[in-house]
Amino acid sequence: MNRPVKLLAIESSCDDTSAAVLVDGRVLSNEVAGQAVHEKYGGVVPELASRAHQQHIVPVVDAALKAAGVAVHELDAVAYTQGPGLMGSLLVGSSFAKGLALSCGIPLIGVDHMDAHVMAHFIDEPKPKFPFLCLVVSGGHTQLVRMDNEFEQKLIGKTRDDAAGEAFDKSAKLLGLPYPGGPLIDHYARSGNGSRFHFNTSKMPGYDFSFSGLKTSILYFLQEQQAKDPAFIQDNLNDLCASIQETIVTYLIQNLERAANDLGIRHIGIAGGVSANSLLRSRIQDLALRKNWKAYIPAFAYCTDNAAMIGMSAYYHFQNEKFGTLGDRPYARGGIREL
Ligand code: KG4
Ligand code: ZN
Repeated sequence: MNRPVKLLAIESSCDDTSAAVLVDGRVLSNEVAGQAVHEKYGGVVPELASRAHQQHIVPVVDAALKAAGVAVHELDAVAYTQGPGLMGSLLVGSSFAKGLALSCGIPLIGVDHMDAHVMAHFIDEPKPKFPFLCLVVSGGHTQLVRMDNEFEQKLIGKTRDDAAGEAFDKSAKLLGLPYPGGPLIDHYARSGNGSRFHFNTSKMPGYDFSFSGLKTSILYFLQEQQAKDPAFIQDNLNDLCASIQETIVTYLIQNLERAANDLGIRHIGIAGGVSANSLLRSRIQDLALRKNWKAYIPAFAYCTDNAAMIGMSAYYHFQNEKFGTLGDRPYARGGIREL
């Protein structure tokens, strides 16, 4: 194709409705509508999430097209998150994308959400060099992914139980903070002492992770302290947040360092919602500096769920003519090929 490739991308896997327009792999717009409705429940309520996606999808897509100055009839393809995610939420985005592709007579591209988190690195310059090792940390997944080119991702490590984002959110819940607690722990930790309290993490085989022991260790510690002093959490919130954050980030970075060392990889990165964490962002930079490696961190807006990353992944699918069909089904669970 000689003229610029114009893609509309839609993300609706969890609790953010997002639409983006990319022209020749350049992001022209990236609109996101969040869902405050879940805050009081301490987690995402699937049925409420899909209803909110239904309310948001048309205005969000309209806003993305308008901000990019692109009309629907100019689109060359429509991309959407096929999975993994909440089934009801995925169905809203996929049905919308399929309807649009059918009515405009343009190709449809189904994108893997976790794959797309890694592809967020290819939105802005400098793009990672290969081989590239990426720690993907979100609310639902924790993975170490190796890339030797733009088209293929290999899973070399994963969590055996909770995801890193879940560890943040569940710890926050134990501290009485609302959902999602990750950003709040980050916030309170800024004024806290991260070496005051110590919590357990488990070393797993290979490059795998486990966060369930950490949650239990925090729970028992808090129960013990509160039995002695009911105001313990309130009076020590900053130090507790800083210590929990320190434990999670140290654990993540240690595994990333070990894998990169063993595999001889010098280009490392972080992706997914937890990569918005300020300590994780500074620790990966420190690691790269110490080892003379290069660290890549996507812009803040491309760390949490967004359609720009779906569009970036779709752009590579488009180049390979890897198109989907109207019969493609969303999937709740998935994952990239394990080594
Ligand atoms: O990738 P994402 O937006 O959605 C999923 O695909 O899961 O990740 C959401 C997760 C939540 O667990 C949230 O608490 C966490 O990312 N998160 C953070 C921060 N910002 C978002 N965790 C720690 N520190 C942050 N600043
Ligand atoms: Zn995500």
